[in-house]
Amino acid sequence: MTRPTDPRILPSDITRSELFLNRRRLLELGVAGAAFGASGVNHLALGADAPPPVDRYKAPRNAAFSVTETPNTLEEISSYNNFYEFGTDKSDPAMNARAFKPTPWSITVDGEAEVKGSFTLEDILKPQALEERVYRMRCVEAWSMVIPWVGFPLGDLIKRFRPTSKAKYVAFTTLMDPKQMPGERDRVLDWPYVEGLRMDEAMHPLTLLAVGVYGKVLPNQNGAPIRLVVPWKYGFKGIKSIVRISFTENQPRTSWSGAAANEYGFYANVNPAVDHPRWSQATERHIGGSSLFAKRQPTLPFNGYASQVASLYTGMDLRRYF
Ligand code: MTE
Repeated sequence: MTRPTDPRILPSDITRSELFLNRRRLLELGVAGAAFGASGVNHLALGADAPPPVDRYKAPRNAAFSVTETPNTLEEISSYNNFYEFGTDKSDPAMNARAFKPTPWSITVDGEAEVKGSFTLEDILKPQALEERVYRMRCVEAWSMVIPWVGFPLGDLIKRFRPTSKAKYVAFTTLMDPKQMPGERDRVLDWPYVEGLRMDEAMHPLTLLAVGVYGKVLPNQNGAPIRLVVPWKYGFKGIKSIVRISFTENQPRTSWSGAAANEYGFYANVNPAVDHPRWSQATERHIGGSSLFAKRQPTLPFNGYASQVASLYTGMDLRRYF
């Protein structure tokens, strides 16, 4: 993500230059051999001083909701991240989220619902059957990964709160804790990070709340202990480390559209036909393997999920509601 007013971030193909810079920095430290595999991805993320990921969330794969492409490795998934609360470089979250404590955790539910209050993560998880789903993920910055999430449909949780007929949207908030999240001491975004979905998007069976990846507890940098996953939308909709869920009558404010409304919309449906004002969305670079200089692949409408979700937007001008 690049905020146009932020002078520290270069426009254009930032992902490639960042990989290059990170590699150079590590070369300077003399650890390049240990830190990088063929992928050019930083393997320090799961290195010796990081706690080993816990195998708590082994769950059966839901094949009907999974793509057949080969998933990215856990190292790739947990070392190339966007989580501005822990820094703006792709390698920052893995480094700076190590000391983050995602337990104990609770989520406040408020707004237009019959059931409201504060719920521990255990309260939330107890009645939900977890499943694994391999999803194609597409970042607005034109890179992609394939990720085996473990979670449960957000819609199943929403039903438990019994939203009222006034609830047209669901809004989400990330933890605000500048002591633990050093990025929140910088004014890169208007903290805390907030996101939202229309109620029918939130209830769609593809929309997940994820608590794990590869059967393991979510790495902190991926949004521990619980984050949103909406595979047909650009990655910034997938808000991490959620502490509040609010049911609202009006469309909620979202962090990136608040920062640059002409660049990042509320809907953020993956759409190769609607370019970002500063780059094309027609293709993407798949992160992983030997892909540092790999050919770009075409981006698919709704990230390949059109047959399942396009009907949510019938009659909407997707250029206007981008
Ligand atoms: N959530 C919070 N709270 N803060 C963030 O900076 N970045 C978003 C999203 N969720 C972000 C966030 C963006 S831009 C992307 S692409 C995805 O997280 C990246 O998720 P990943 O690092 O697990 O791949």
